[in-house]
Amino acid sequence: MAVDYTTHDGVAVITLNNPPVNGLGLSTRAGIVEGIERAQHDPAIKAIVLTGAGKAFSGGADITEFNTPKATQEPTLATVIKIVESSAKPVIAAIHSVAMGGGLELALGAHYRIAASGAQIALPEVKLGILPGAGGTQRLPRAIGLEAALNMIVSGAPVMSEKLAESGLFDEVVQGDLAEAALAFARKVGAQDGPHPKVRERKIEHPNAAGFIQFARNSVAAVAKNFPAPQKCIDAVEAGVQKGFDKGLAFERDCFVALVQTPESHALRHAFFGERAASKIPDVPADTPVRDISQVGVIGAGTMGGGIAMNFINAGIPVTLLETKQDALDRGLATIRKNYEANVSKGKLKPEALEQRMALITPTLSYDDLKNADLIVEAVFEELGVKEQVFKRLDEVAKRGAILASNTSTLDVDKIAAFTKRPQDVVGMHFFSPANVMKLLEVVRGKDTAKDVLATVMKLAKKIRKTAVVSGVCDGFIGNRMIEQYIRQALFMLEEGALPAQVDKAIEKFGFAMGPFRMSDLAGNDIGWAIRKRRYQEQPDLHYSKIADRLCETGRFGQKTGGGWYDYKAGDRTAHPSKLVDEMIVAFSKEASVERRKISDEEIVERLVFALVNEGAKILEEGIASKASDIDMVYLTGYGFPLYRGGPMLYADTVGLYNVERAIRRYASRANGDAWQLAPGIVELAAKGRGFNG
Ligand code: 3HC
Ligand code: NAI
Repeated sequence: MAVDYTTHDGVAVITLNNPPVNGLGLSTRAGIVEGIERAQHDPAIKAIVLTGAGKAFSGGADITEFNTPKATQEPTLATVIKIVESSAKPVIAAIHSVAMGGGLELALGAHYRIAASGAQIALPEVKLGILPGAGGTQRLPRAIGLEAALNMIVSGAPVMSEKLAESGLFDEVVQGDLAEAALAFARKVGAQDGPHPKVRERKIEHPNAAGFIQFARNSVAAVAKNFPAPQKCIDAVEAGVQKGFDKGLAFERDCFVALVQTPESHALRHAFFGERAASKIPDVPADTPVRDISQVGVIGAGTMGGGIAMNFINAGIPVTLLETKQDALDRGLATIRKNYEANVSKGKLKPEALEQRMALITPTLSYDDLKNADLIVEAVFEELGVKEQVFKRLDEVAKRGAILASNTSTLDVDKIAAFTKRPQDVVGMHFFSPANVMKLLEVVRGKDTAKDVLATVMKLAKKIRKTAVVSGVCDGFIGNRMIEQYIRQALFMLEEGALPAQVDKAIEKFGFAMGPFRMSDLAGNDIGWAIRKRRYQEQPDLHYSKIADRLCETGRFGQKTGGGWYDYKAGDRTAHPSKLVDEMIVAFSKEASVERRKISDEEIVERLVFALVNEGAKILEEGIASKASDIDMVYLTGYGFPLYRGGPMLYADTVGLYNVERAIRRYASRANGDAWQLAPGIVELAAKGRGFNG
């Protein structure tokens, strides 16, 4: 049973006991109803306390039940809340730790609420692409007022219980023992005559409700472009204001049922579970002991090293930052300081915190200062010879058990590990630029990387607020290996008839933050050029369009040189289509005897996205990624793939692998078709009528 029932001198205590977060799945819901009825029938019971065991009051509806028969099986959450609310004996919700979504809605159905201070209170449904579906949009405005409630519902953000102490939501916010306080409160109200208060009977008072609702609508307009839920949240609150509680509740229900079916909600739930699944590595048990990381070393204070150091400092972990020359060290420190100053001026960091953070950095030119570090992250030049020098030196100075990580983006982590006599302690930690901002961290598992090293890095990633995804060793790891195929297609399409602005526009309309050419101009076209030059050596048979090389030969490396695929005005990042480049592209096609044709936006999107999907499927087959959702997390957090589409692999499932396979076969039979080597995994899954995610 997911609910415990105990009695304490006239008070029944119903304790949700459904770890990890007391999700309100079917058996929990049934248990609550059973408890309420048992208490009604026991004449000795005068009041009922509803609380949660373990680390939550309740994290809300059980999301894993969505779109399954259990979700709608009685007692539904709406029924449970109705039963709680109509109990003749007063029900007191005793809230601690977390009351979210359906958990808060359940508490709003109780007659009284008392909370421990420090509890997180939220209606986060909007983050899952839905709206509170068990009365939250109706009761919360009646409990805390229209404005505060709409803010919570539309943002989904948690608010601390003590901040809501005066709001009308809680009868008491207690500092001490919640269970004791709840029993005392229950005895007090149990001795009073009913009827006991119901939130639904309160009025929503606001001098200009219609005006505020319109303001809220305008504020969510930007997000709501791709997500239907925020507007629906506002519609439901408005329905309650205009038509009263019961009609508002019915409207809310209809919206919930519709939203839970949308691809956007599906994508957001996929991302929610994908993020948690990414931290689980199939052959590394959850209870693997982790190493203590309380001192970090970072080698190289350049673009990446500085940002990497900031991550640890922000989490309160001191960093020793090593460079070869004093001026490089000074430059690195100055950049870190400048970043923090920018945070202060934007109001994101308190001025006094700036010096505290800077004080956590120990700059040095000496490897001896790394001897106490528990983890050392290398971010020096991307040359194997330089990495060799660094790792040999680290092997000499690092203490036993220290984790030695490389931020390499293209080199073989196994080769780097072999420079040491402790390859089990070596791992890749591939941060993305800017490293202090980007959420993604690819954790590259070498052939000898120890399990406890992986477990430690995954745990540490959470502490520094990164989404960590494990990748095996291969060229480009998960993200860059896939993007290479996407870029190849983008270049072929220029050759065949498209222009950079058309390609970018089409894929940005699909939802990417930035198209391939704008992205390349931002990152520097010389980076891709260097990679291609290496490819020409290593894989001379690999077919690439030479069009990007032609551009680079003219010195157009992107924004930093004032021009790339686009023209840029000084000090302005706006990309202006370049007549010169467009003419160069057309001339290139002519030279190559390619008859340019009109390429549709649909073809552009398919070729770019299916190139990702096809390579992703190979990455899965090879075991480089252990699950499809890991690939999606890489693309959602590191490559600007539209969140509302859930990542390339989920998107492929949505389109249907049968259709993906057909499209790839079609493109493989056309010009530049040799770039498409259909992944056997797609064929296999399509034949079974399955997708990457089941
Ligand atoms: N349903 C099912 N599983 C849930 C869940 C939920 N509502 N909330 C959390 N979980 C699971 C997680 O998937 C994870 O499972 P795992 O251990 O197998 O990976 C486990 O609980 C622990 O979750 P976290 O790692 O996130 O634990 P934290 O302690 O860091 O955070 C939390 C706890 C703040 C509750 C966080 O999990 C969270 O934000 N959960 C989602 C809350 C939410 O969105 N609730 C609304 C649900 S929809 C709803 O209520 C509809 C209603 O209006 C009708
Ligand atoms: P960078 O050139 O900005 O910085 C490298 C720094 O390392 C320089 O400050 C240099 O003085 C220092 N350095 C060189 N040799 C050293 C040594 N032996 N000991 C100590 N310091 C030394 O380079 P960047 O961009 O920061 O790249 C660093 C690493 O991060 C590379 O491996 C790169 O592939 C990887 N990377 C880069 C990304 C990017 O977008 N720039 C993204 C992800 C990874």
